[in-house]
Amino acid sequence: MKDTIVSVKNLHKWYSGVHALKGVSVDFARNEAVGLIGDNGAGKSTLINILSGVQKQDEGDIYIESEKVAICSPRDSMRLGIETIYQYNSMVPTMSIARNLFIGREPLKYSVFGIGVMDLRKMREESVRAIADVDLHLRSPDALVGELSGGQRQGVAIARAMHFKSKVMILDEPTNHLSVKETNKVIGFVRSLKEQNVTGIFISHNMHHVFDCCDRVVAMARGQIVLDKRVADTSIDEVQSVL
Ligand SMILES: Nc1ncnc2c1ncn2[C@@H]1O[C@H](COP(=O)(O)OP(=O)(O)O)[C@@H](O)[C@H]1O
Ligand SMILES: [Mg+2]
Repeated sequence: MKDTIVSVKNLHKWYSGVHALKGVSVDFARNEAVGLIGDNGAGKSTLINILSGVQKQDEGDIYIESEKVAICSPRDSMRLGIETIYQYNSMVPTMSIARNLFIGREPLKYSVFGIGVMDLRKMREESVRAIADVDLHLRSPDALVGELSGGQRQGVAIARAMHFKSKVMILDEPTNHLSVKETNKVIGFVRSLKEQNVTGIFISHNMHHVFDCCDRVVAMARGQIVLDKRVADTSIDEVQSVL
């Protein structure tokens, strides 16, 4: 039996005149890495923006572990166990690695008249551990994110997802603008998600990257899913032919 974690049914999205999603239905199972492929404008980002709470669908339903959910904000999405890493990721360059790891979920030491005081020591200690856990070697949790390379920033974002035990990790074109070495690291991360019990949804233009680290490939074209197969049962040529 397939252990479905996220299920979307018949999603539609219109942007004024543009019908960006035309009844998209797809399931994502626990412990699988799924590559989402398609040309520019196919609707990939719209689909994942709905899952990450950046946009709301006009029609259709989302189920997480068989329960129908309403995802109205990025915070809802995070609370449901979905972590999203964007091409230009959402970290604050002028803040430290430790602060970025805990954005929106800062541990509090105590509260004064209902205003929490952040536990900075706890954030430093936990971020050192979180970063070591994803095999990222950084000088210090106090280093500013703005001083890191693109690949290292992706690493911090991944450490954050792992640390907060996300169920699903969505990576929207995470390898754009990365060096070959950094790209390989991100591909390694996608491969390792399974061992950590995390479902990966990896959006990429690069068919080779998807075939390198995913179990399944879902192809979109013009707002619809046009292919959904196990990587072992298809080929780059076949996927290319349906786009
Ligand atoms: N915020 C938006 N406002 C208007 N149109 C949009 C917006 N986002 C996406 N679109 C349109 O929706 C379609 C799907 O885009 P998108 O989901 O970004 O595709 P992909 O990520 O596959 O390149 C495109 O025609 C795009 O121009
Ligand atoms: Mg996109």
